Amino acid sequence: MKKVTKAVFPVAGLGTRFLPATKASPKEMMPIVDKPLIQFAVEEAVAAGVTDMIFVTGRSKRAIEDHFDKAYELETELERRGKTEMLEFVRNLLPKNINCIYIRQPEALGLGHAVLCAQPVVGDEPFAVILADDLLDTISPVPPVMKQMVDVYDHYRSSVIGVQQVPREDTKSYGIVEVKKMTDDLEQIVRIVEKPKPEDAPSTLAVVGRYVLTPRIFHHLARLGKGSGGEIQLTDGIAALLAEEQVLAYRYQGKRYDCGSKLGYLEATVAFGLRHPEVGNEFAELLQSMK
Ligand code: G1P
Repeated sequence: MKKVTKAVFPVAGLGTRFLPATKASPKEMMPIVDKPLIQFAVEEAVAAGVTDMIFVTGRSKRAIEDHFDKAYELETELERRGKTEMLEFVRNLLPKNINCIYIRQPEALGLGHAVLCAQPVVGDEPFAVILADDLLDTISPVPPVMKQMVDVYDHYRSSVIGVQQVPREDTKSYGIVEVKKMTDDLEQIVRIVEKPKPEDAPSTLAVVGRYVLTPRIFHHLARLGKGSGGEIQLTDGIAALLAEEQVLAYRYQGKRYDCGSKLGYLEATVAFGLRHPEVGNEFAELLQSMK
């Protein structure tokens, strides 16, 4: 029985909604207070038992590789200044058993294409896909969302897609699923469409950036033409997979911050700022005084 030990992080997007911040540095490196979005995503994968982090990168994404690498100059400097606590902190961003693997997506041909680029490393195993700009927050004892999804995978051995309800006018921003009910938080997907207009959407249940996929998805992605927006869509690959395998929609426990949008990013910053061990209390006072 194969376990999910690999996660794919498509990080080749241009991040145009955050220009000029994303002109020379990746949107996934934007911090929520002091932690970059990509680090939240990787920590979620670690909590789900993933050990191989596969980043599908593009131009101007060097900062992500540097972030998870050893920072010799910084470490030497912190050591020289006797800042041992901070030194330990930057040295141990990730557990020692984690491998970071980088693949380049030569052209921005879409999310489906980005996932397909990871096939040589993923091979014939189930794997996770995490979109870092969907920040999914859970508060202990609720396990992080990818852990919840891997548990569902381990039980049913079928692909699992994270979903949530959205207002009908927003269906044009998401993959939308039509489902058959199984349990309270789990449904069987019967149809999936990428970014339908509100009047065409089969439901208001939207795909969020969390997937556990069987390797059969690669077979379908490799045969896809351009879909919505002229891109090779992961959604279309899943639509093809549906015809031969069960694919589940999972209503996760947790709160989603859409950090691909300015408002969602600000909301996450406020929420995490208020909980921050160093500045939380003062930040709350500050917000009060600004009302
Ligand atoms: C992608 C997917 C879409 C999904 C969304 C979740 O779209 O194509 O199906 O609902 O992520 O965030 P994007 O937001 O990259 O346009």
